[in-house]
Amino acid sequence: MNKNYYITTPIYYPSAKPHMGHAYSSIIADFFARLKKIQGFNVYFLTGTDEHGQKIQRAAEEKKMDPLLFCDEISKTFRDLSDTLNLSNNDFIRTTEPRHAKSVQNLWNILEKKGEIYLSKYSGWYSVSDEAFYSESEIEDSDGAKKAITSGSKVEWVEEESYFFRLSNWQDKLIEFYDKNPDFILPETRKNEVISFVKSGLKDLSVSRKSFNWGIKVPSNKDHVIYVWLDALTNYLSALNYPNESDNLYKSFWPADLHLIGKDILRFHAIYWPAFLLAADINPPKRVFGHGWILSGDEKMSKSKGNILDPLEIIDTYGLDPLRYYLIKEVSFGNDGNISQEKLESCINSDLANNYGNLCQRVLAFCDKNSNFEVPEKNTFNEDDKLILDQYSKHYENLIKYSNNQDVNLYINFIVDQLFAANKYFNDQEPWKKKNDKLRMNTIIYVSLELIRKVTILLYPVIPSSSLKVLEVFGIKEDKIDFETIRNNTYLSKGLKLGKLDILFRKIEKND
Ligand code: ME8
Ligand code: MG
Repeated sequence: MNKNYYITTPIYYPSAKPHMGHAYSSIIADFFARLKKIQGFNVYFLTGTDEHGQKIQRAAEEKKMDPLLFCDEISKTFRDLSDTLNLSNNDFIRTTEPRHAKSVQNLWNILEKKGEIYLSKYSGWYSVSDEAFYSESEIEDSDGAKKAITSGSKVEWVEEESYFFRLSNWQDKLIEFYDKNPDFILPETRKNEVISFVKSGLKDLSVSRKSFNWGIKVPSNKDHVIYVWLDALTNYLSALNYPNESDNLYKSFWPADLHLIGKDILRFHAIYWPAFLLAADINPPKRVFGHGWILSGDEKMSKSKGNILDPLEIIDTYGLDPLRYYLIKEVSFGNDGNISQEKLESCINSDLANNYGNLCQRVLAFCDKNSNFEVPEKNTFNEDDKLILDQYSKHYENLIKYSNNQDVNLYINFIVDQLFAANKYFNDQEPWKKKNDKLRMNTIIYVSLELIRKVTILLYPVIPSSSLKVLEVFGIKEDKIDFETIRNNTYLSKGLKLGKLDILFRKIEKND
């Protein structure tokens, strides 16, 4: 079995500083990266910034800045956000790096040599904001301007000499590829949209621009810069040192296991990208998952709509793990979701402070008082003990399946159920009434500690730093977290000294 796992986020445009939508993609990707890591995979997790093209050039011009200096500044805010979000990424790629240009030009040369690229003239609509070409049927008149229907962004008329990629030749081969790889595009509804778009007919794609110069040059014709999407998509390869195919990173991690993206950029990842790769005889990625949007009111949160929520402010007020937990649990993954401070606060209070935090605090406090802060000797488990402990082994295969299918909500809902069940177990067993049956009392403590250990391992990908504090109590270090052990009901050994735990999550007082 291949135990390597390559996961990517989109590389974000550093045209403005990051917002909650970017944080969302990155947090979900980190959730999967950590989840796979504790399942024994050798994980490579990539994120970065997409720095070429007209959108960036214009943003720099507005600030009267050199485009590279402009990118340096804003790319850094994305890199800093990766740290603030506690991402476990292995690399942060910038498309202005020489390693990337080399990779893109190499891919271009292959496509050109194979006759997949030809010179002609483009005339049609272009959205600089989306860096996308649109056909007449994809635009509408709105507020006196021509706009793309799907994104609402303004389009402008472009007429210039351009290289084209023979996308029309790949229509049937793409359909065949989707048929053979039924899980290539998820979720299912998005896959159907893509397939019907492809079936409606693909035109050749303009892959170079001549009217501005902020980009990677076409190797054989320096008057042209390579279309920013052909440039950007190649980041997933250049980070693995493509074209050096004997490089260990490339050999181990290509094809990518999961490109996690928002549904706004599905067409580029699910149509253009596999077509470029198939045309160059490179294996396409295994999966593209297009998640929904974080909304502000009922609109997509985006810089161009001016309705953004700053993740840094939220993290400042509430902390990182509560935000991660909220986005992972409260947004139905694949669909659009809202974030409001009110919902975030009630999630912190009910799930994190009351349910998880309280379970840890009361069990450890009781253990402190009654078994001297060490794992006590247990008796054989009774039916109640077995029933609750066995939930984990019983659901193990499902949990693996959820991880492989990106069923984020099924995964986290299992955790929430187990937290309720563990609190209920501790209440119902009333260990404080068992002081004259020390062995039974100790068994209840033992089971409760095991439940905390198990559920905390499951929580690690969701709220890594809080989980690590709890695992530390049991002496489990980050690199020793092993998903397999959640099936082991007697992992903790008698006499193990337990560490202290500070308050994990403080309840938010509502003053109204
Ligand atoms: O499209 N809700 O960059 P971008 C959820 N550079 N996710 C959101 C979001 C929202 N409101 N807003 C943004 C680009 N995102 C290209 C990508 S990849 C080779 C090149 C997330 O800065 C989501 O993942 O516009 C979306 O697809 C991505 O940011 C777009 O970021
Ligand atoms: Mg965008």
